[in-house]
Amino acid sequence: MDAASDASVREQWEKLARLVSQYQFEYYIAGESSVPDADYDALLAQLVAVEEQLGSVPEGSPTQKVGGTFSTEFEAVDHRQPMLSLDNAFSLEELQTWAGRVHSELGGSQVSYLCEVKIDGLAVSLTYERGELVRALTRGDGRTGEDVTLNVRTISSIPNRLAGDPATHPRLIEIRGEVFMKVSDFSDLNEKQARDGGKTFANPRNAAAGSLRQKDPRVTAARRLSMYAHGVGAVEWEGAAPSDLSRQSGMYTLYEQWGIPVSSHNSVETTLDAVQQKIEYYRDHRHSIEHELDGFVIKIDEVSSQKHLGSTSRAPRWAIAFKYPPEEVTTRLLDIQVNVGRTGRVTPFGMMEPVLVAGSTVSMATLHNFHEVRRKDVRPGDTVIVRKAGDVIPEILGAVESLRPEGLPEWQAPTHCPSCGTQIREAKEGDKDLRCPNAASCPSQLRERVFAIASRGAFDIEALGWEAAVALCDPESSRPVGPEAPELEGPELVPLLTSEAQLFDLADPSSALRAGLQDIVVWRERKLKSGTKWELIPYFYSKATASKPSVPTATTEKLFTEIEKAKTQPLWRVLVALSIRHVGPTAARALAAAFGSLERIRQATVEELAAVDGVGTTIAESVIEWFSEDESNRWRLNIVEAWNHAGVSMEDIQDESIEKTLDGLTVVVTGGLENFTRDSVKEAILSRGGKASGSVSKKTDFVVVGANAGSKETKARELGLRILDEEQFRLLLDNGPAAFATDDAEPEESL
Ligand code: IVH
Repeated sequence: MDAASDASVREQWEKLARLVSQYQFEYYIAGESSVPDADYDALLAQLVAVEEQLGSVPEGSPTQKVGGTFSTEFEAVDHRQPMLSLDNAFSLEELQTWAGRVHSELGGSQVSYLCEVKIDGLAVSLTYERGELVRALTRGDGRTGEDVTLNVRTISSIPNRLAGDPATHPRLIEIRGEVFMKVSDFSDLNEKQARDGGKTFANPRNAAAGSLRQKDPRVTAARRLSMYAHGVGAVEWEGAAPSDLSRQSGMYTLYEQWGIPVSSHNSVETTLDAVQQKIEYYRDHRHSIEHELDGFVIKIDEVSSQKHLGSTSRAPRWAIAFKYPPEEVTTRLLDIQVNVGRTGRVTPFGMMEPVLVAGSTVSMATLHNFHEVRRKDVRPGDTVIVRKAGDVIPEILGAVESLRPEGLPEWQAPTHCPSCGTQIREAKEGDKDLRCPNAASCPSQLRERVFAIASRGAFDIEALGWEAAVALCDPESSRPVGPEAPELEGPELVPLLTSEAQLFDLADPSSALRAGLQDIVVWRERKLKSGTKWELIPYFYSKATASKPSVPTATTEKLFTEIEKAKTQPLWRVLVALSIRHVGPTAARALAAAFGSLERIRQATVEELAAVDGVGTTIAESVIEWFSEDESNRWRLNIVEAWNHAGVSMEDIQDESIEKTLDGLTVVVTGGLENFTRDSVKEAILSRGGKASGSVSKKTDFVVVGANAGSKETKARELGLRILDEEQFRLLLDNGPAAFATDDAEPEESL
């Protein structure tokens, strides 16, 4: 085949492939075909024939796709123009200050305010090329988003092809907007989910996010999502723009002609008074519009003024989000319960009749501490005021005293820990908080510590999450509580693990502890068509049936391997796992690098510890305090001894073969590398004497750039820093900066 015909076959392939993909998508995902099956079959046959002519099957060809194998991979893709955020105003004064600044920046010229409701959803960027939707991305970090094209194609109000005169379609445009779920669609979805025993969502935003980020677009297709456009990113016109686009509102008119949905709540106002009226209107009607809102957005409508005002790296100066004050509602307080945290702090919280506030149903709210409960004088049986701001934990503000039933008794704070029964008290005189002093073996505290030990920043035992920590250390806490909790028949559940000292015994197949996992059960609520049922289920083992005996589940097997692997983690992870106050991953790395073994850290004086770069007196004193051996601390040292005995490595093997090639150098790694994880790249730099930094500055010596690197790469280029790819980074690790030395010294003149 000569080059010209090769190109034309290729072109033919592309055309056919696009059509076949579209029809496959309609048929398998969207559930409605626009062509008869026979036409589709004929097209597919043609495509196969063209592929034979080509001599190979191009990657991603629809001929290789079996129906329903579409899957969104959420590939990271850069936005052509960054997706910015918005600055906030929390009061009318702040709004006036912003408007005053804008006004003076623009030399006092008249402005129009484009007023929009702030939709509580997820920002997306839709790229249309010559009228065709080619890509949909989430906002991501603003520079790089995730490819959700297949999922967005299932949203019926987003056109795959722009409507209107094709002459008005730009060569390329990034249309920015918000994907959301209407309140009515959200209620329908939750009802259906509850009926089918599926997961229900806390609010429309979560439902929209959960639906858009589905691996299987068929699930997205089954959810009703909506979108309103609220901006524009990159635009490239073929010739001149088709209409007057000197205002953002003009762009919206064009969007409407293209069939892109735009909010009916938008308006253009010319005075700040009129803007304020709109703000008040939507504050009072926030629950009577079709979607949840989390504020009100005011934009300068004139595009030339927008350009003049410009943007910071975070947000445009020509727009601002007005945030409404947190919502307050009333409900009945059923009971006050307490929770015991990692450090033994006892926190009271209210159990309430479920109530909808700021878009989600809440039935629990914090009361902070006992002092607060007394001060607010809230009593079970009271009508209480609950406040919630966005994602913030709901809190009980106080009781409506006029509605208090006569003779309602004051709440009596517990005197003993609800988890272990130890008497609770102030750690120090005058403390607002009460604590359970049984740090060593209170099931509730242990559960929180074990969860922390297994977390990513410590031993990184993925199979030991929150529920497994509950099952191991505090299974009783899976029993429902509160005045409305069902009465459950069943024995008191006794914890298997009574100290984290025992944790590594689970790696030993012959240990009694490991055998005990078979008997661990927890309470679980099962949703049935006729209601819900609580039952005791084995946590670590499968249920035995007539034909199959009970065996460890796959996750439990994983738990064994991961615990075994955790024994050889570097020293800093052991330090973090010990829950020493103030010792997080950074301090732990510094201590590990300076001392090399737990024993040497234990022997060190405050001065020696505090002298380490990155460790101050506070951390040093905390370390000393942790290791100090008095009666109340002995249990901590038992942990160290038990872990040591179980084979947990307590020192970093100094690999003498690793040369200090990066001594004194600061290296920043940005983006994903193929052969390193985030942790292993850091280890590689630190073990060679270098400093691994998270931010680019003039002091950075090398910047390693991996896949989808973002703003750090841009900054590094602006600063003219030395940039390396992964392969060059390996050379740097092995040979140090000499690998890249440019010999720019003048050659010596030969005499
Ligand atoms: S304009 C460059 N308009 O709010 C300006 N944003 O808190 C970018 N949002 O990331 C945004 N409704 O996802 C704009 N009418 C509206 C909006 C809106 C909701 C979201 C958007 C943005 C976030 C900032």
